[in-house]
Amino acid sequence: MLLKLVSDLGLTDVLSRGTTVGEVLADRGWTPRAAIPVTWFFRKLAAEGELALEGSGADAVYRSRGTLPAGEPDRSEARSLALDPRSAPPFAVVRAMVEHVPAFLRGELSGEEVLFQPGKLPLWFDYFSNDNLLYQINNRLGAEAVARALPIGRPADVVEIGGGSGSAALAVAERLARDGALSRIRRYVFTEIVPTFLRRAERTIRSRWPALAAEFRKLDMDRNFAAQGVEPASADVVYAVNTVHIARDLAAALARIRETLRPGGVAVFSECVRPFEGQPIYVEFVFNFLENFTGVATDPATRPNHGFLTPENWRRSLAAAGFEKPEILPDVENLAKHYDAFFVAAVSARRPRSRP
Ligand SMILES: C[S@@+](CC[C@H](N)C(=O)[O-])C[C@H]1O[C@@H](n2cnc3c(N)ncnc32)[C@H](O)[C@@H]1O
Repeated sequence: MLLKLVSDLGLTDVLSRGTTVGEVLADRGWTPRAAIPVTWFFRKLAAEGELALEGSGADAVYRSRGTLPAGEPDRSEARSLALDPRSAPPFAVVRAMVEHVPAFLRGELSGEEVLFQPGKLPLWFDYFSNDNLLYQINNRLGAEAVARALPIGRPADVVEIGGGSGSAALAVAERLARDGALSRIRRYVFTEIVPTFLRRAERTIRSRWPALAAEFRKLDMDRNFAAQGVEPASADVVYAVNTVHIARDLAAALARIRETLRPGGVAVFSECVRPFEGQPIYVEFVFNFLENFTGVATDPATRPNHGFLTPENWRRSLAAAGFEKPEILPDVENLAKHYDAFFVAAVSARRPRSRP
C-alpha cells in the first residue's frame, strides 16, 4: 500500500533524485502537519531497503536505491485474507484513510475527520476486537499479565483505562473463566473517554459476563482521576491496552495511575512496543494521521518520540514515575535479536509497598 501511495502522490521522481521531507512539503505546498506521516513513509521504505538515507533529523536525505517497485496492495490483502479472514480489519482501516491522504497533506482534512466520522465507527469496532487476528494478541497477552498480577488469596479491584468498546476486558474475563477464576476479581471498573465506546462496552460485557462485577464510567487519563470518581489507592491492578502511549503527558498520567494503585498494586499496560528506537511499526501508517496519537509531550530521556515506546523508554518512564520491578512480557528486546518485527508486549510495574 505504501509503495502505491508514494507513486500515486507523484513522489517517485523526487525520490530518485534525493530529497528531504522539508523540500517535499515546500515544493508541494503541503501543510507542516504532513511532515509526520511523510517522514514515516520514507523511514519505512528506508527500513525495507527501498530508500537510502543520508543524515538525520530534518536534514535527512532519502534517495531510492533503484526503480521503486509499484506495490501490489490488492494482492497482499488477498493473500492475507486467504490465509485467515480475521486479518481483514487493518486493511479496511488503511483503505479508509488512503483515499483521503492527499486532502490531509494539503491541510484540508484532519485524520480524526476522516477516521472518526460516525459512519466509520464500525471499522474501529472491528479493529479493536478479539476477532481481529493481529489486534487480539495485545488483549490475550495483556489478559495473561493481568492474571499474573492479581493478588493471591483475596479478590482484586481492577481499574481499566481507555477500555474502548471492551475487547481487552472481554479477554481478561475469558482468561480467568478458563480457570474457573472469574471470582478473583471483586470489582472491575471499566473506564473510557468516548461515550459511544463506553456504552457499547457496557452492553457487551454485561451480556457476555453477567457474573463479572463490572462498573462503567467515563474517565480522561489526562485529568485528575479522583475528580472523575476513581479514588486514590482503590485498585490492585490498573490495566490499559494501547492507551497509555496517547496520554498527553505520560509522566503525569503514570503518576495518576500510581496514585490509583494500592501500595504493592500493579500497573499492566499491553502495548505496541518498538524493539529499537526509531524503528517504524506498520500500524503507525494510519495512527500518524491522528492528532490524538502525535500530539503528546516528549522527553529526551523517557519518551523521545510520539507513539509507541521502546522497552527501555517504558522502564525509564516507569522508574521516573516511582514504579518498581518493571517487567516486559515477552522479552521483545531479546526476541528482536532473532526476529525484529514482534511489536507487542505487556509492560508491568509495581507501586512500591512503602514510600522510599
Ligand atoms: C487504541 S484504543 C484501545 C481500546 C481498547 N483498550 C481495546 O484494546 O479495545 C485507545 C482508547 O483510548 C481512548 N482514549 C483516548 N484518549 C483518552 C484519554 N485521554 N483518556 C482515556 N482514554 C482515552 C480511546 O477512546 C480508545 O478507546
